[in-house]
Amino acid sequence: VRQPIIAIDGPAGAGKSTVTRRVAKALNLVYLDTGAMYRAIAWLVSKSGVSLEDQGAIAELVTHAKLDFSPPTEGAPLRISINGEDVSEAIRTPEVTALVSQISAQPAVRAKLVSYQQDLGKKGGLVAEGRDIGTNVFPDAELKIFLTASVQERAKRRWLDFQDQGDGMTLEQLEQDIQQRDYRDSHRSLAPLRQAVDAIEINTDGLTIEEVTDKIIYFYQKII
Ligand code: C5P
Repeated sequence: VRQPIIAIDGPAGAGKSTVTRRVAKALNLVYLDTGAMYRAIAWLVSKSGVSLEDQGAIAELVTHAKLDFSPPTEGAPLRISINGEDVSEAIRTPEVTALVSQISAQPAVRAKLVSYQQDLGKKGGLVAEGRDIGTNVFPDAELKIFLTASVQERAKRRWLDFQDQGDGMTLEQLEQDIQQRDYRDSHRSLAPLRQAVDAIEINTDGLTIEEVTDKIIYFYQKII
């Protein structure tokens, strides 16, 4: 039998990454960052110079792409490489972020990554974070969480992150980017972002990272 799976979905900037990392550590589960995988494909498409409209060429690229994903561990951050190239940092640039939701809407891209994620999840014992984990990748996950927050709150968090990195994006730009990505992610035809019927919604406005993490751990312990 497989170990339990926690699915954490929600829009951009709702705090999924930070919270998922903490939940994984506290419960000794593997952390699966599926957004990083879509970002790696977006990076590859952008590097290859293939047009976004050329679905055939993108499908070709994706089918032959070799992904290597090693989840973060105590003391070591997540590493992801594609076709042998380590892109762990490169996938976080504003250019990749601006491109990714158009790449992730393409059928060949989703087919490849969903089956890759399902393979990684065969034995269970993981907490996976994304947009379609509870609805599509692991529909039988033991616990499903849908993390939300107002656009203002999410943009503010991103802004604070970028301040640390010395990036010059304004709050208004970040709000627009987030809204546009949410719109694309929730209006695409394939596995759009939406809350699974059996997911527990947590609105993180005004909650600390610790409070959100503790809530998820509490729900997990109730069902396990
Ligand atoms: O979570 P993150 O911001 O890294 O995700 C980047 C993008 O990858 C999302 O905006 C979405 O377009 C795509 N994505 C997806 N399905 C997932 C995870 C991410 O379509 N399960």
